[in-house]
Amino acid sequence: MENKETILILNFYGQYNQLIARRVRECNVYSEIVPHDISIEEIKKKNPKGIIFTGSPSSVSEKNALICDKEILNLGIPVLGICYGMQLISHLLGGTVEQSDKREYGETLVDIDNTSPLFSGFENQNVCLMSHTYFVNKLPEGFKNIGHTSDCPNAGIADDNRKIYGIQFHPEVNLTKNGTEIIRNFVYNICNCSGDWNMASFVEHSVEELRTKIGNGKALCALSGGVDSSVAAVLLNKAIGKNLTCIFVDHGLLRKNEGDEVEKIFREQYDINLIRVNAKERFLSKLAGVTDPEQKRKFIGEEFIRVFEEEAKKIGKVDFLVQGTIYPDVIESGAGNGQTIKSHHNVGGLPDYVDFKEIVEPLRDLFKDEVRKTGLELGIPDYLVYRQPFPGPGLAIRIIGDITDEKLEILKDADAIFREEIANAGLNKSLNQYFAVLTNLRSVGVMGDERTYDYTLALRAVETSDFMTATWAKIPYDILEKVSSRIVNEVKHINRVVYDITSKPPATIEWE
Ligand code: XMP
Repeated sequence: MENKETILILNFYGQYNQLIARRVRECNVYSEIVPHDISIEEIKKKNPKGIIFTGSPSSVSEKNALICDKEILNLGIPVLGICYGMQLISHLLGGTVEQSDKREYGETLVDIDNTSPLFSGFENQNVCLMSHTYFVNKLPEGFKNIGHTSDCPNAGIADDNRKIYGIQFHPEVNLTKNGTEIIRNFVYNICNCSGDWNMASFVEHSVEELRTKIGNGKALCALSGGVDSSVAAVLLNKAIGKNLTCIFVDHGLLRKNEGDEVEKIFREQYDINLIRVNAKERFLSKLAGVTDPEQKRKFIGEEFIRVFEEEAKKIGKVDFLVQGTIYPDVIESGAGNGQTIKSHHNVGGLPDYVDFKEIVEPLRDLFKDEVRKTGLELGIPDYLVYRQPFPGPGLAIRIIGDITDEKLEILKDADAIFREEIANAGLNKSLNQYFAVLTNLRSVGVMGDERTYDYTLALRAVETSDFMTATWAKIPYDILEKVSSRIVNEVKHINRVVYDITSKPPATIEWE
């Protein structure tokens, strides 16, 4: 797919880089974030229709400023510099960049030249997000001014002949009014893209590409029932049919009925070659008496790999191992920009013991919402596609203290009631994660005339966009009341329900 219409985004580590990539894709043009020091050969190979330089915490006057190859500006490929990106263009082409006395920050009225192709369709003023202390003072030769604010003389610059543009503000954030339209103007009016990127064409391209790559080879996929691995499996199935084998390790720590539901969809709807391993007993005996959260994670991770390995060995040599890696994983784990931000902690990371030739990652170019759209395109049911995140170690980290079969059943039933009521109240789309936790605390209650001494169940629900920070959800009292009353009435051994009203930080989303 190297030759699909592409906009390259040179990464200078600005905080909104992923958003820039998203916005370009929202204009139906494929975009890719690449390191700022990418070579000219690499760029030529990728044959982009346009290049965007991102913002940066750095400044061009610093000794170790992040600089790209100046030749990029001579390739005849249109360039848009955003914030630092614009200052870098000026710096490389002989303009000057200076520090101003005061930082310009926030939504700011920008006077713009709406005869510029970058601003076509705009009024002559637009509210834009500014965030800078440095600014372009003198323009490089060949450039003209296309925007200013009361504090910034050059908020927009253009060289229409060379098709090089710079804007000091951030069109990628929502605080800039109609910001996506500026990006759309760049990709359509200036880069002449035709806009052929959508999920149907992605599916079509990928299926073709996977067929060419895999041919008659055999592929193996670890299926968890989560969105990414499910979409990867269905895509591969469409491409190579029964030459794909999926192994679904059911560790018994999934939510109520989840294992059966996953199996049903893949067997009945897709006729996938599926091996389900019911390994609950194995996992529970491994976890018996384990109370430390990190120990639980470690044991589950190890056991998962062991079970997968045993099954994979029965299949023998395969040619390809399918992984559901998605684009944010690629960027976060550093492959996209050479900087490691975090390592991953998913169960069943790369099984290096499986005998295979090559890894296939069909979703590595997609953002999460694009993976979901691909899933819908492939006919995967809504409830699976829009499923809330579920941790690899499953309910084991939602049972505080040691895990027993009995506690597992209590938690599954209580959690199912909570989810059902959230769906009944129509809150399932607005809450990003919601679940029940079985605490290790028992307390006294009274049921009818009888004293009880049973568990306390905690409900947890959060709103978040990135799961790195989260706020506790203000679920209406009447819904909490209904959930609480149903749980104590319908689930044995729970006589008290509490609601977790802590945000992250200082708490985490999961309790363990
Ligand atoms: P925390 O609890 O760290 O969770 O605020 C953030 C997000 O990550 C999920 N999570 C995990 N996912 N393996 C996973 O695959 C894990 O060990 C794990 N721990 C937490 C959690 O559900 C939330 O979405």
